[in-house]
Amino acid sequence: MLIDTHAHLDDKRFDGDREQIINQCVEEGMVCIINAGSNLSSSVKSIALAADYPIIYAAVGIHPHDAATADQNTIEVLGALAAKKKVVAIGEIGLDYHYDFSPRELQKQVLADQIGLARELKLPIIIHDRESHRDVVEILKKEKAREVGGVMHCFSGSREMAKECMDMGFYISFAGPVTFDNAKRAREVAGYVPEDRLLIETDCPYLTPAPLRGRRNYPGNVKYIADEIGRIKGLDNDRLMESVLNNTGRLFNIDI
Ligand code: NI
Repeated sequence: MLIDTHAHLDDKRFDGDREQIINQCVEEGMVCIINAGSNLSSSVKSIALAADYPIIYAAVGIHPHDAATADQNTIEVLGALAAKKKVVAIGEIGLDYHYDFSPRELQKQVLADQIGLARELKLPIIIHDRESHRDVVEILKKEKAREVGGVMHCFSGSREMAKECMDMGFYISFAGPVTFDNAKRAREVAGYVPEDRLLIETDCPYLTPAPLRGRRNYPGNVKYIADEIGRIKGLDNDRLMESVLNNTGRLFNIDI
């Protein structure tokens, strides 16, 4: 049994074989995939995938890379999309100071607006945070994100930050980087996060785990992340996946 709590199956890198890949996931025991939106068109595609495949659920949101394309109308459209069937979260949203594809002030504003939307709709949020730890935590606090909670996707912060986020009701999710040789801190944080706050994900087609780095990622590779987290926490695979399944169901309010 496998779960991938963060995928981008709408990405153009799956255009050639999307259906085949999803069917392969089902055959391999995948029971749930949360497909995260990155802008309006990808959010629409995410909803369509959820309508087509029972195992897929959708999140809708504007990624910080796309923050510069958002205006007040975008947030309204997003609100309408969020009302569609099988939309379980607002995401992925956040800040990215590594690439800075959108001006930081705009990234912050769009993040704050989307947290507001999530609170209005009572939906959890999926947070992207790259080299912007302090500002992300500050905005989550200021915008009262604890009212809805959510997940820190592909978490890269410290143990202290993980605690701050969990205190606000957030789950901590690990992706391919936890399998990389230089991921000492991520492994340490994974050891610290309690079993009932832990999620795993691929972020495919990105972040392919070791030993497959360099290839396109797909949801089935979540097993490598599960193996690594299980090893760190001393949990067998069935036990870990049962916890992840319970956590996913609780956070996104779905029956898996
Ligand atoms: Ni992502």
